Amino acid sequence: MDSRNGSAPQIPLDAEMESFFDSAPPLKDSAGITQKLKEFIEFNSAPPGKGSPRRVVCVTSGGTTVPLEQRCVRYIDNFSSGHRGATSTEYFIKAGYAVIFLYRRGTFQPYCRSLPEDPLLECFECSDDSSIRVRQPYTEAVKRAISDHHAAVAGGHLLKLPFTTIFEYLQMLQTIAMSVRALGSHAVFYLAAAVSDFYVPWKSMAEHKIQSASGPMDMRLVQVPKMLSVLKKGWVPMAFCISFKLETDSKILLEKAEMALKKYGMHMVVANELSTRKEEVTVVTGNEKILVCCDKTQPDSDVEKPLIELIVGRHSAYVKDSDC
Ligand code: PMT
Repeated sequence: MDSRNGSAPQIPLDAEMESFFDSAPPLKDSAGITQKLKEFIEFNSAPPGKGSPRRVVCVTSGGTTVPLEQRCVRYIDNFSSGHRGATSTEYFIKAGYAVIFLYRRGTFQPYCRSLPEDPLLECFECSDDSSIRVRQPYTEAVKRAISDHHAAVAGGHLLKLPFTTIFEYLQMLQTIAMSVRALGSHAVFYLAAAVSDFYVPWKSMAEHKIQSASGPMDMRLVQVPKMLSVLKKGWVPMAFCISFKLETDSKILLEKAEMALKKYGMHMVVANELSTRKEEVTVVTGNEKILVCCDKTQPDSDVEKPLIELIVGRHSAYVKDSDC
């Protein structure tokens, strides 16, 4: 077990995972992250006033990077804009959940999807008296983004934790898992991040920028251990776990999703194909394949709304069963 996580119970890791965590550079501000999580979970377990405890979901979003040099100039990236994770976060909060949003720096953020790509330069202008104001077409969108985001963060329902590398992502996922473990079936993991499958172990990585003068380069990448099994079977055995399966070949998608469901003990696997991921997904469970689509008759409809409705319903049934 990784001894850096002080509050973690002793859960054995297999050799591959042990070697991954041993080779990872220590997570910056690990104690600060653990403290933020502790406060967030405590607050949502006993909200002030007469509020009932909120269920907690960890939404992962965006792609992890694999650095090729310790003083990183070059890296391998994984595709994900973060749209799925950011949009799903909004619907989870609306449904009454507290969300730990584990996201890749620079990707889509909750409540910002109706803003243009460069909101600072496009939405604002300087007026004659040197004050800054919102440009007319964006007034409503900016107001809504600021007030919804503020309500979620200041209200204690949204905790945002950024990552960049695969090392940061998996260490933070472990820290989150250990922090929510005591919530049992009330915790959900919604693993929409695109996670690297291969990496360069920190100790065998070049320290400085790799030089091109010596011609073509061979590099050996090691397989990143799948964390889904250890998450479900070791770290949070009672949590409701949803993973994603992304493929570009629709012929193998459902078969791979079913395999992941069985192999990693997930409650649901959301199968999506790269080119249609915004219009439809198929949710694979033990005995069903449920096609979830956006409502094409509505202008701003998205697939996350019906998807999160389905998940919240299934999670509620799971909590009820677990409490019996
Ligand atoms: O962000 P968008 O642009 O909106 O796109 C959303 C999305 C397509 C990225 C998202 O819907 C999605 O499918 N995310 C998962 C992508 C992915 O990594 O798929 P995979 O088939 O490689 O991995 C399957 C699962 O295994 C994932 O839940 C991942 O968290 C997990 N995994 C992967 C590698 C690894 N070493 N360990 C893991 O646990």
